[in-house]
This record gives sequence, structure tokens and C-alpha cells, in this order.
Amino acid sequence: MEQSVVDVRHVEKIYGKKNENQFRALQDISFSIQAGEFTGIMGASGSGKTTLLNVISTLDKVTSGDIDIAGTNITTMNQDALAAFRAQKLGFIFQDFNLLESMTVYENIALPLFLQNKTGKKVEESVEKVAEILDIKNILGKYPAIISGGQKQRTAAARALVHNPSMILADEPTGALDSNNAASLLETLKQLNEEHNVSIMMVTHDAFSASYCQRILFLEDGRLYKEIQRTGTREEFFKEILDELAEAGKKKL
Ligand SMILES: Nc1ncnc2c1ncn2[C@@H]1O[C@H](COP(=O)(O)OP(=O)(O)OP(=O)(O)O)[C@@H](O)[C@H]1O
Ligand SMILES: [Mg+2]
Repeated sequence: MEQSVVDVRHVEKIYGKKNENQFRALQDISFSIQAGEFTGIMGASGSGKTTLLNVISTLDKVTSGDIDIAGTNITTMNQDALAAFRAQKLGFIFQDFNLLESMTVYENIALPLFLQNKTGKKVEESVEKVAEILDIKNILGKYPAIISGGQKQRTAAARALVHNPSMILADEPTGALDSNNAASLLETLKQLNEEHNVSIMMVTHDAFSASYCQRILFLEDGRLYKEIQRTGTREEFFKEILDELAEAGKKKL
């Protein structure tokens, strides 16, 4: 049996307190992600994509339901345990990359290891290994302010990867990039996924970005209503995604 890295069961997220204005952002969501899968989440603005990513990434709590990540149920863990779990098992790529300007590229990449109180030779080895993969070994001593946009992305990808997480979570990672840089970040993610078997979950509303995934989950008003799997080329998948988005658009009219 294949090992699932994420198992989401009947998850519901309601924002707001009882007797106040409540909003049901996620309703009865269930799905699994196998180790090594590159999964996309798509849906209109407000459909619940970020909410779903946030509850899986342990940054926010579910109202009901269960989520297992790498075999651990995260819905019952306390804050301290969650922070430790996050630092150990998950890697994040944010829309604006969130690099710390006062730290060098090396220090930015090493951050997840520092957060686990790791020091010394081990940190150095891990940083150099991912820097090699992402081709940024020559800028490790520089500060984010003086490196290119593409180098910033690869630094963010290296930081998401340095501690061998079970999964990388990315929320609109190409949102702030021009098409060349977007394509190169997506190629990097694809490479990490295919050659290093890293599981990736990526929120995007862009069909081009989504076409790099093997599978897309579609959200509408907090519900998963459809899932498509890539069977042919990326170009074919791209067209299929565009068709699906057009279909979803028609329903709204
Ligand atoms: N903290 C909050 N309190 C109340 N409602 C919220 C909160 N955060 C999000 N929502 C609502 O939940 C719904 C889902 O929000 P979410 O941010 O998950 O959407 P999204 O699919 O990521 O949208 P976008 O594509 O615009 O980023 C929206 O209707 C939003 O207004
Ligand atoms: Mg969002």
C-alpha cells in the first residue's frame, strides 16, 4: 500500500464565535495525498484555498474533523507540539518569499534548522547540499537585497527544503513573479518533486502553474467538488484545467 503523507477526514472550518456572524469556510472536506505527489488546489477567490492550506500547515485549527500528516493527528496537538511538528515536518514557500533582510542567504536557508536548535557541521552540510541542488552556492554570503528575483525564489525553495520536510506547502508561490521567473520556480518544484520525491501542495489560481501538478483539487464555497489527474503531457493538462475553470465560471453566471 502506498503511504499517505496527508489524510484529511471530514474537515470543517467555521470562522467566528457562536451566536456571532459565523462563516463556514470549509465543509466536509476529505482527501488523501500520497508521499511524493505534487498536488494543486484551485478555486475562485474566497472558495477556501488558503484556509485549507492553513489548517493542513497547522497555522490554523479545524472546527471539526481530523488531519493526519506523516502519520500524526495534528488536530489534537497543543501549541508547543504543533510548533515543533511544523519546524520538523513542513516547509513553506510564501507568495513574497518572506526572506529576512538582515540575514544572509546562508542564514535564511538555515533558519528551519536553527529553529530546531541545530548547530555546527550538520547545519553547514545540509545548507550546502540544498544550495547545490538549487544552484545558489555562489551567493550564500550575500544579503537578499542584492540578489536577483530568481535567486530569491531559489533561496526560499532551499529554506523550504533544508530540513527534509515531509511536505512543502506553497500558497500562490508564483503570484508575484513574471512569467520567466514563474516558469523557473515551477521547474524547480517539479525537479524537487520528481528527483527528490518531495510531496508538494500548491495553492494557485493560475492554470499555467497548476499544469505542473499531477493532480488538482477544485474548491467551491468551501467544498471539494472535483478532482482531475494528469494523464498526458503538461500542455494537455493545461488545456484541461482551462476547460474546467471555464466550466466553473459558467456555473456562476
Ligand atoms: N479570519 C477570518 N474570519 C472570518 N472569515 C474569514 C477569515 N479568513 C477567511 N475568511 C473567509 O473565508 C472564506 C475563504 O477564505 P480564503 O482566504 O480561504 O479564500 P481563498 O480561496 O484563499 O481566496 P483568495 O483566492 O482570494 O486568496 C472567504 O469568504 C473569507 O472571507
Ligand atoms: Mg488565498
